[in-house]
Amino acid sequence: METGQALLQDHVDMRLVINDADKHQADRKTIVQLDRDHPGFRDREYRARRNQIAQIALDYKAGTTIPDAPYTDQEHEGWGEIWEALEPAHRKNACAEYLECVKRLDLPKNRIPQLSEVSGKVEAISGFRLEPVAGLVEPRVFLESLANGVFLSTQYIRHHSTPLYTPEPDVAHEIIGHAITLADERLAEINRLVGEAVKRTTSAEMMERLSRIYWFTIEFGVLRENGQVKAYGTGLLSSAGELEIMHGADLRPLDLDAAAYQEYDPTTYQPVLFCADSFDDMYNKLKNYLVNWN
Ligand SMILES: [Fe+2]
Repeated sequence: METGQALLQDHVDMRLVINDADKHQADRKTIVQLDRDHPGFRDREYRARRNQIAQIALDYKAGTTIPDAPYTDQEHEGWGEIWEALEPAHRKNACAEYLECVKRLDLPKNRIPQLSEVSGKVEAISGFRLEPVAGLVEPRVFLESLANGVFLSTQYIRHHSTPLYTPEPDVAHEIIGHAITLADERLAEINRLVGEAVKRTTSAEMMERLSRIYWFTIEFGVLRENGQVKAYGTGLLSSAGELEIMHGADLRPLDLDAAAYQEYDPTTYQPVLFCADSFDDMYNKLKNYLVNWN
């Protein structure tokens, strides 16, 4: 599996890395549960650092400055490798609005930026801010927070031995995918509208439909730009591998009613993508759909 697939137990698919029982264990040093096949499973230092970073989120009080995570030199180097793979893929496959946001935010490529500095820059542009979470949270909690202009972000980075692969969303996906797109005013507005629609959602069936809308747009959306297919979805934008092969997917016209019922497998590259006619088309269709959601 490669970075993008990683994305897939994404925010809306929720495989809890940290469960409630663990949170309340007397020994909080063991709060992070990694699968045996996780690249960092046998690395005690990595696991200790993951626990430290999880603790930052558990202690975090909304609205306060996010404490810095203790990343190592190897992890900072891994961030550089991720960008090295992504930059050419972005130039070729990312939509213009995303490339503009990359310039606007001007994030460091040679070190992992701290959530506090990224959050400050994004908030100054679109009003959205980041808040740390220890691991995946309930879909409703995650999506509803968007209504308040808050993106709940993990803070740990993938294991340094696999810079282009992560079995779970990490800070690279959160920043390179979500935070950068949240610096676009219209994408930020769509994120807020998703949150507001979730707040008006009462049934589990409707919640599922909205989660699929989120998946096929904010996570894996593509659009046409000067006749070419470009990505605006965060899962694509944070995966060099999936950006390269997305052109081979079954590209369907953006039909949100169809997307709401389209099944997906979060553990593989996406075989079906919904393609808007343009950025304006994506924005207008999503806005109209979400505003009228009830
Ligand atoms: Fe995501």
